[in-house]
Amino acid sequence: MTNKDFVPVRYQHRIREGKVTFKAPSNIALVKYWGKRTGQLPANPSISFTLDACATTTSITYSKLEKPYTKFSFELIFEGKPKEEFKPKIESFFERIETYLPFLKEYHFKIETSNSFPHSSGIASSASGMAALALCLLQMEKEMDPGMSEDFFNRKASFLARLGSGSACRSIQGNLIQWGEHKETKGSSDLFAIKYPYKVDSIFQNYHDTILLVDKGQKQVSSTVGHNLMHGHPFAEQRFAEAHKNLSSLKEVFATGDLKKFIQIVESEALTLHAMMMTSIPYFILMKPNTLKIIEKIWKFRASSKTHVCFTLDAGANVHVLYPENEKQKVYQFIKDELVAYCENGHYICDRIGFGAKKV
Ligand code: DP6
Repeated sequence: MTNKDFVPVRYQHRIREGKVTFKAPSNIALVKYWGKRTGQLPANPSISFTLDACATTTSITYSKLEKPYTKFSFELIFEGKPKEEFKPKIESFFERIETYLPFLKEYHFKIETSNSFPHSSGIASSASGMAALALCLLQMEKEMDPGMSEDFFNRKASFLARLGSGSACRSIQGNLIQWGEHKETKGSSDLFAIKYPYKVDSIFQNYHDTILLVDKGQKQVSSTVGHNLMHGHPFAEQRFAEAHKNLSSLKEVFATGDLKKFIQIVESEALTLHAMMMTSIPYFILMKPNTLKIIEKIWKFRASSKTHVCFTLDAGANVHVLYPENEKQKVYQFIKDELVAYCENGHYICDRIGFGAKKV
């Protein structure tokens, strides 16, 4: 498919006013997206677990304007209060998607959004937020074009969400989602994410992710700055090649449930992401001392308990602790006894693999 496939031809119906609500989850990448090309295209393919508890719920109340505006007409309410700071991001999202949703300037939108997790948790809400917003807007299009297939709806939702935030395209469906062309994954695309199409062992069907909130402060490096660091990065090409290789290796891991290999790939991806940040110009260290303490504890516990607990990181200090359902008692006890002490104010979030966004 190409960009053109997402430009609508004409609508069967026109709608005047209404309200639509979607709840979209966050996701955690196993193979990381870090580096992008013009047009919000990934420099390498990535794969993620869709989460369940961490989610954004967004409602759009729309009403047709007397005549189309020259600008986008919208108001933004975040957790019950108007939020001017978020408007430029939405404005530029609207600009990017207008070709694909040409009715945007014909309506006034009241966008009301809230997260299931505290805004100050250091958890990025751009993935779930942009996914929920894209879904609401696309639902409007679906009402004007009721024949739209479910398959196309999911693809276009992912396509639109990607234009808001790259990782958001992996927050439409569940539970194992791949974004970015990879020669061994049939149907994979840089334009939108797909459900991982091959065999996935049952051990991965109900994985847990306990998110340890090590540092709840504002992100030191915005994702835009972060991705840009990969332009001209001395190790960029090797890194992108490594992501392809890791995805290839994961194929067998997912099929067979080989947790040892899974852990090796996932932890290496997390550390590579941070290694890229440490070796770029300018360079950043986003891990905190407590991030490292947690990692050490996880390694020690894994060796002594013979469990398969492992970690991954996003572009910050928080640690995602991943473990299978059949080890949850042991691992959760360990988290409470030994890891929570390293969290800011003892805060953490219990999440698990989820099944994608839902219309509310
Ligand atoms: C480290 O999707 O937040 O979480 O496309 O600029 O919005 P933008 O970036 P974003 O980057 C996510 C980076 C990551 C890895 C990942 O989720 O794959």
